[in-house]
Amino acid sequence: MTTVLILVMLLSLLNHGSAFFRVCPDCGGLQVPYPLSTNEDCGDSRYRIHCNSGNLEFLSATGVYYKILRIDPCARKLVIQPPVILKDTCYTSDLPEWGLMLDEKLPFNISTQNVVMLFNCSDNILQSPLNCSMNSICRKFEEVVEEGRGCMNTLCCHYLKDSAMTSHRIRVRLGGCTAYTCLVDSQPRDSVASWKYGIELQWSPPY
Ligand SMILES: *[C@@H]1O[C@H](CO)[C@@H](O)[C@H](O)[C@H]1NC(C)=O
Ligand SMILES: *[C@@H]1O[C@H](CO)[C@@H](O)[C@H](O)[C@H]1NC(C)=O
Ligand SMILES: *[C@@H]1O[C@H](CO)[C@@H](O)[C@H](O)[C@H]1NC(C)=O
Repeated sequence: MTTVLILVMLLSLLNHGSAFFRVCPDCGGLQVPYPLSTNEDCGDSRYRIHCNSGNLEFLSATGVYYKILRIDPCARKLVIQPPVILKDTCYTSDLPEWGLMLDEKLPFNISTQNVVMLFNCSDNILQSPLNCSMNSICRKFEEVVEEGRGCMNTLCCHYLKDSAMTSHRIRVRLGGCTAYTCLVDSQPRDSVASWKYGIELQWSPPY
């Protein structure tokens, strides 16, 4: 009796497993490793990402799509492209949505490998534990990088997004800071030319 039961359970597991573990097709030259899922027929639907006209994209909780630059399935990490800073302003394209916000119910969070720079901040940011000094690396971004020109001479700061902070958002707003960018796998002492832009997200295992 027990053997039959185990056999039935095993069979149903195998059956289930084959549909469950189907890997999604590539998108825009990127592989879509399990459990990431671009449609209902593959991957694990809790790990939904999007293949929009040949671009692999991550959808935020507030409906903004961010381009996925690379995926590391072993480390369970992916890197998305930071939003652009609109020309001649110091506004990121996701300012109307208050920056990047991840759905806390989903298995993704922002990793601790990110150095975030905030621009055009109001004075009350100075009370927070960010580096808003004259030698913060955000000054170099304003001076050297074309995209940062619109933020020149605004109050800016940088910080390491570590485990002491919320891992589900990078917030911008009018009257707070109105733009941001982010470096991944870079140290503040690295030269501007070697900076790698990106926001690294990680996902929890599906089991
Ligand atoms: C701010 O960052 C700069 C550049 O990394 C560093 O030299 C400086 O010591 C930092 N200041 C504070 C107060 O942490
Ligand atoms: C900086 O932010 C303020 C509101 O907080 C806004 O009025 C101003 O236009 C912003 N500056 C730039 C250069 O975008
Ligand atoms: C983010 O997710 C990873 C993987 O599930 C987990 O190990 C880590 O503790 C999470 N970080 C935070 C700050 O919640």
